[in-house]
Amino acid sequence: MLLGLTGFASGLACGNLDTASAGRRRPDAGRADKEGAARGDAPGEPTVIPPAVEIGLCPPEIDDYAAQHSLPESEAMIAIAAETKASTEWWIMMIGPVEAGLLRMLVHLLGAKRVVELGTFTGYSAIAMAEALPAGGTVITCDISEEWTDIAKKHWAKSPHGGKIDLRLGPATRTLEGLPGPYDFVFIDADKRGYIDYWEACVPKLSPRGVIVADNVLGNGHALDPDGRSAAAAFNAHVAADARMQSVMLPIRDGVTVAWRRGG
Ligand SMILES: C[S@@+](CC[C@H](N)C(=O)[O-])C[C@H]1O[C@@H](n2cnc3c(N)ncnc32)[C@H](O)[C@@H]1O
Repeated sequence: MLLGLTGFASGLACGNLDTASAGRRRPDAGRADKEGAARGDAPGEPTVIPPAVEIGLCPPEIDDYAAQHSLPESEAMIAIAAETKASTEWWIMMIGPVEAGLLRMLVHLLGAKRVVELGTFTGYSAIAMAEALPAGGTVITCDISEEWTDIAKKHWAKSPHGGKIDLRLGPATRTLEGLPGPYDFVFIDADKRGYIDYWEACVPKLSPRGVIVADNVLGNGHALDPDGRSAAAAFNAHVAADARMQSVMLPIRDGVTVAWRRGG
């Protein structure tokens, strides 16, 4: 997912974190708060309108340049991104092509067979990972939204890789409870308040060379708030203190953490 705050993007670039709360509030703030919760805004953090233009940590021209010099999006990814952008202002929840490239690269290089994704949305990241899997590999992906995953299902059905995707509707915690390991690759991208629970549910089920990738670890910039009370800050502290795992945080878009077993 992309940073939702234009102000934060420029604020970070010039080192001024006060701009982190510069997002506009929607006029129908009640609905926005509900949607913000689904999106994963941490409690007390402002719910913001998705910006009309794509802005992340990088200036857009650098993002574009990186995308143009990375593996191209597949037909299915292009079609999903186009329909998502046309049909919902929440399209910013989709990861971008460079982050998708990172997931595809990791799934491929790890030789992953069993991928678990928390947060399907309209299916962009799921199809990207499915395309990188060998025949017989599976992406088990879960979401609570029938409306958004209906868009995903429609596009997956047209892809030769769609059969590798197994959608589970329901809260991620419940899905994980019923999902035995080992997981070769986990992508955490659902509600941000659930990240620590998802981490705790997934780490014991990781295969020996398994990898967890978590999106939005900068929490729209709130990870850097001095009070350290944001969901992103709590998750990042939890990950850093976990002696079972080691990780690297990449400042791509809203921050991506890649973690693997210590000694793995
Ligand atoms: C950031 S979007 C996922 C984007 C997707 N990975 C992509 O790149 O296209 C987050 C998704 O998490 C879902 N979600 C929110 N709370 C959830 C929960 N408790 N369990 C499962 N999914 C949840 C939302 O419905 C939303 O579709």
